[in-house]
Amino acid sequence: MQLDQPFSIGNVKLRNRALLAPMSGVSDLPFRELAWKFGAGMVVSEMVASEAFVEGEAEMHLKAQSGNLPVHMVQLIGREAHWMGHAAKMVEAGGADIIDINMGCPARKVTTGYSGSALMRDLDHALKLIDAVVVNVSVPVTLKMRLGWDQGTINAAELAKRAEDAGVQMITVHGRTRCQFYKGNADWDAIRQVSEAVSVPVVVNGDITSIDSAGRAIEASGADAVMVGRASYGAPWLPGQIAGNETPFAGTDLTLRTIIAEHYDAICQLYGKFLGVRQARKHLGWYLDKFASGPEFSALRQQILRSEEPADVLKLLGEICDLAEQNANKPIAA
Ligand SMILES: Cc1cc2nc3c(=O)[nH]c(=O)nc-3n(C[C@H](O)[C@H](O)[C@H](O)COP(=O)(O)O)c2cc1C
Repeated sequence: MQLDQPFSIGNVKLRNRALLAPMSGVSDLPFRELAWKFGAGMVVSEMVASEAFVEGEAEMHLKAQSGNLPVHMVQLIGREAHWMGHAAKMVEAGGADIIDINMGCPARKVTTGYSGSALMRDLDHALKLIDAVVVNVSVPVTLKMRLGWDQGTINAAELAKRAEDAGVQMITVHGRTRCQFYKGNADWDAIRQVSEAVSVPVVVNGDITSIDSAGRAIEASGADAVMVGRASYGAPWLPGQIAGNETPFAGTDLTLRTIIAEHYDAICQLYGKFLGVRQARKHLGWYLDKFASGPEFSALRQQILRSEEPADVLKLLGEICDLAEQNANKPIAA
């Protein structure tokens, strides 16, 4: 399978087969816009709680924003069919081109509310949610799941088949059970059962960190595409790179420092100064880990990660990049 090849989710054509995973607190609009700009085949919003979205909670509406993305995929999570159906209609009206349903989140606060991966313990109920979304929208509906609740109840293929019969047009599987959370290795082989059970595209997810691991994941799972999550921390270009694009630094005058500054500005603009400065810190930390992790950087790092003033942060970022370039005697790159 060539990951640079386009494929379709229903009537929506994706330009390649390396997608950015939905990640709450990470894949917000600024991060998705960068991943898209650097060539990801598709980017997915953070999960949006259906009931809170319908009730107008500002945080959920922020998560569902499309910004300048030409293709917009929103992920919904919930436990009640009527909220899911209602939210789906609203996100479609707001411009979503694809709606994804979350049946993979392992967090206790989510599963004790019988949503996310808890739905894999009750497929009849899971199907009610899927039906409610599919019948209420005309855009393609997709589903993201784990292998099952635990090792004794692997049922991803059964859920995938039932979801396909209900009209779902793409299935993403994270190759772990809910009870594994993020422990152990993702089991790409186990996803093969899903690939064989359905004819809609299947996406393999979990522990894909490079072109090489993406190839092995495709080979093992028989999937049609890959989805990249944590490995893209501080590397929004990674899905695009896995899809065969050059890194943004090759043959352009874009530098890591301009990317970080652009990302930082976009975060502060979206959230406003107070929240933006805080939201940006984890991203800055991930970028700095790539080129400024030694002890000689620690004083500057601390100032950057504690500063409350965006202008100061940008100035300090310039200083830490200068220091890294002086030390390495070359421009910083990932
Ligand atoms: C911080 C974080 C937030 C996540 N939020 C979501 C989410 O909102 N929706 C979802 O379906 N999966 C979510 N996930 C799971 C990822 O999409 C992905 O399935 C998982 O991280 C495995 O892929 P990876 O090994 O490439 O990170 C999240 C994962 C992380 C680490």
